[in-house]
Amino acid sequence: MEPLTSERIRLRRWRDEDRAPFAAMNADPRVMEFFSGTLSRAESDALVDRIEASHCERSFGLWAIEVAGGAAFVGFTGLSVPRFAAPFTPCVEIGWRLAVEHWGKGYATEAARLALAHGFGTVGLEEIVAFTAAGNLRSRAVMERLGMQRDPADDFDHPSLPSGHRLRRHVLYRLKSRGR
Ligand SMILES: CC(C)(COP(=O)(O)OP(=O)(O)OC[C@H]1O[C@@H](n2cnc3c(N)ncnc32)[C@H](O)[C@@H]1OP(=O)(O)O)[C@@H](O)C(=O)NCCC(=O)NCCS
Repeated sequence: MEPLTSERIRLRRWRDEDRAPFAAMNADPRVMEFFSGTLSRAESDALVDRIEASHCERSFGLWAIEVAGGAAFVGFTGLSVPRFAAPFTPCVEIGWRLAVEHWGKGYATEAARLALAHGFGTVGLEEIVAFTAAGNLRSRAVMERLGMQRDPADDFDHPSLPSGHRLRRHVLYRLKSRGR
C-alpha cells in the first residue's frame, strides 16, 4: 500500500529505525498512563512485529506517523481488529499513540482522519469504533474532534483487566460511514 498523506502527515509502513523512538515512547509513563504499564524494549519490538504482521493479513493496520519536513517518526495511528469479545465486536477500531513532545500539535487528529478515509473509502467499512479508559480525556478529545459519537449505554468493562482495576471502565465511540 502507498503511504497516506495530508498536508503535514505521512502514514507509512514501519521501518527498523522506528523501533528505538517507539521503545522510548512505550517506556514513558506519561504515554502509557492509561495502559497497564510501560513496555520493555523487547515488548515494544514484539509489538512492532505484530503490527507489521497484521499489515500482511489485511488492507489496513497501524501506520507509523511521519511529519512532512519534520520528525521521521512521531508515533502511530491506524485501524485494527480487537481480539477480545464484547457486545460491539467484531469491529474495526481506530487508535493512536504519540511521543509526548508531539502532543498538542493536532497530529493525532490529522493522522486519524487519513486512517478513517482509508477505512471508509478503500476498505469500504460501514463503521469504525474507538475506545479508551474513561479517564483518558486527551484520547476522548481526539474521538470527539473526529465527530465520533459516544452512547453511555455502550460503556464497558475491559475484559483483559481484572475487577477493580483503575482502568477497567471504558467508553466506546462510534463513527458510521457517510455513504451508508
Ligand atoms: C491521545 C493522544 C494521541 C492525543 O494527542 P493530542 O496531541 O492531544 O491530540 P491532537 O494531535 O489531536 O492535538 C490536539 C491539540 O493540538 C492543538 N493544536 C496545535 N496546533 C494545531 C494544528 N495546527 N491543528 C490542529 N490542532 C492543533 C489543538 O488545539 C489541541 O490542543 P489541546 O490539547 O490544548 O486542546 C496523546 O495524548 C497520546 O499519545 N496519549 C498516549 C497514548 C494513548 O493514551 N492513546 C490512546 C489509547 S486509547
